[in-house]
Amino acid sequence: MRWAKLLATMAVASAFAGASCGISVAADVAPGDVQFTDDGVAVSLTGVAGNPEEGASVFKDRKLGNCLACHANSAMSKELFHGDVGPALDGVADRWDVAQLRAIVTDSKKGLSEDTVMPGFYSLNVGAHLDEKFAGKTILSAQQVEDVVAYLATLKE
Ligand code: HEC
Repeated sequence: MRWAKLLATMAVASAFAGASCGISVAADVAPGDVQFTDDGVAVSLTGVAGNPEEGASVFKDRKLGNCLACHANSAMSKELFHGDVGPALDGVADRWDVAQLRAIVTDSKKGLSEDTVMPGFYSLNVGAHLDEKFAGKTILSAQQVEDVVAYLATLKE
């Protein structure tokens, strides 16, 4: 009887643990509320640590980050067609820290320069290359940005 009660308590506790995951998604910083400073974006967009493996998938997925369309990356030499519109991202984590990388990926117009052709991936102002389907939406979710940033942070020479 006592065990049954304990199990019931554990079930309730794990239901709450599940619920708190839901809350962390709801706590994403809204695209318009991201705080940019001269040092970049210091605070995680989600409060959940980025996953570099997920980030690598988002990076190379032609329908998500599609970063290879414009950037070469020797760490992904198995992938075909690396673009050269932007600089190669080899060793990018030696050039920029995490807060700066988060700023660049979130909104390159604020993180890099106003007239860059790089899209803002967590911005409603994705720029001249705005595809109609992105109107009012961000290209990546806040967590996908955190994952990509965690992946970029692994690119050291
Ligand atoms: C349409 C082309 C384009 C796409 C797509 C693109 N970028 Fe860029 N990116 C650029 C350009 C161009 C620059 C260089 C800054 C400039 O001149 O505007 C740049 C610069 C950067 C930099 C700074 C590099 C350095 O060494 O200074 C990082 C980091 C970066 N991009 C990451 C990404 C990631 C991650 C993705 C995918 C989520 C991505 N970019 C997608 C065009 C692009």
